[in-house]
Amino acid sequence: MHKVVSDFSKTVVVPDEGIRLPNEPEPKIREKYANELEKVLITKGCIKERVKALAGEIENAFRNAGEITCVVVLKGGMFFAADLIRALDEQSNLRTRIDFIKCSSYGAKSYSSGNVNIFQVDTIEGENMLLIEDIVDTGNTLKVLQQFLLDKSKNLKTCVLLDKGIAKGVSIDFVGFRIPRVFVGGYGLDYAGMYRGLPEIVVIKKELLK
Ligand code: IMP
Repeated sequence: MHKVVSDFSKTVVVPDEGIRLPNEPEPKIREKYANELEKVLITKGCIKERVKALAGEIENAFRNAGEITCVVVLKGGMFFAADLIRALDEQSNLRTRIDFIKCSSYGAKSYSSGNVNIFQVDTIEGENMLLIEDIVDTGNTLKVLQQFLLDKSKNLKTCVLLDKGIAKGVSIDFVGFRIPRVFVGGYGLDYAGMYRGLPEIVVIKKELLK
């Protein structure tokens, strides 16, 4: 049974069984993915609530900044960033600019190679900058990205949707959910290019992972 959560005002710690809103039914994996996915970890409703709250935290941290440059890490951060930036524009006084950056270290594997490649998609600059990433595992990717962006802004903050709680020596300003050490997909996150389009965060079956 999923844990019912109604407080989204700070990082939500997600238990192994997963979470849902009080008014959501017990979430199930869609039939077409039944052989590949173990369970829904975070429902669509929970993501929506936490994204709204994150936008509030970000507004407070950038109070009086006027404008922020949101740097979206492709491809995993695409849905999270789209919702978060829209929430920022809807709820806050901040003006937003969007730039993209691409990063890879995984390929079609489920563990980090530690060898992070950055592909600059846009010319990135801005006094106040928000780096938006889908997930932090070892923290290698974030470290490289933060280092890369450091001299491109005066005030760089980092927001991740999911944190597995194992990264060391990396500072993250805003975290959506703390999750167990499992490989997840959905809401932009993939395994070998699959599952990005799912509206919830799902756990991928261990036997599928290389
Ligand atoms: P790190 O460098 O080990 O922190 O890994 C970060 C990157 O690995 C993220 O940007 C993701 O692209 C990918 N990643 C890490 N864990 C997962 C996962 O559970 N599902 C999908 N991608 C993941």
